[in-house]
Amino acid sequence: MTENTRTPILAANWKMYKTSAEAGEFLRTLLGMIGGVEQRQVVIAPAFTALAAAASELEGQDLVTLAAQNMYFEAEGAFTGEISARMLQEFGVRWVILGHSERRHIFGEGNKLIGRKVKAALAAGLIPILCIGETLSEREQGNTLKVLEGQLEAGFSGVDSGDASGMVVAYEPVWAIGTGVTATPEQAQEAHGHVRDWLKKRYASDVAERIRILYGGSVKPGNVDQLMALPDVDGALVGGASLEPESFARIVQCETGRI
Ligand code: 13P
Repeated sequence: MTENTRTPILAANWKMYKTSAEAGEFLRTLLGMIGGVEQRQVVIAPAFTALAAAASELEGQDLVTLAAQNMYFEAEGAFTGEISARMLQEFGVRWVILGHSERRHIFGEGNKLIGRKVKAALAAGLIPILCIGETLSEREQGNTLKVLEGQLEAGFSGVDSGDASGMVVAYEPVWAIGTGVTATPEQAQEAHGHVRDWLKKRYASDVAERIRILYGGSVKPGNVDQLMALPDVDGALVGGASLEPESFARIVQCETGRI
């Protein structure tokens, strides 16, 4: 077996929560709580309006970095309500969540659009966190792996192995998001293992071994250690439990079992 040298990522997706004042206060508290943490990357995805306050709070340290929750693939233009990679980078944003299930299911984003966003993010030097995941009915019909493959196919379309190795995939089963129902360790490892196998077929094995695959869906202080113990779970993308500093700090301090 190849040695696993993937640095774990603990990421907070704040969705449509927190003003800039609230974001600043959260980050001041969080930084005070996770001072000694090493060998992991902590990522915060605030609302666009809180990026400036978050960036100024995070100055002078490199443990916690910023992500955006979405972006458009064009550089600029008449696209009312959208935001570009360059606008995000002005605030030091390094990562961008793309294809989140709420974007897919509430706002109707399809695989093709998400694929274009991935390529635009990479071209701009942002790291895409590509979200994939099946709905409950897709799972019940036995289509989970097929759905994941379609989402991976579109998300990685036209992405060469140099870019792919830096990318992050987030497996977020739709039925586990905001529901309190977490995937069992068996379900999570099956999906993550399948994603890794798909990546091995699409790219070389060493590329696939470098790509971090995060789990998302009702991650909490009480289940994070168990999820992080799985061989192909390289981190967590956390919604609800990332909104309180105490709870997210505990998640950041999870046992990763990696050196
Ligand atoms: P919850 O942690 O609230 O289930 O949300 C998960 C999620 O959607 C993170 O992107």
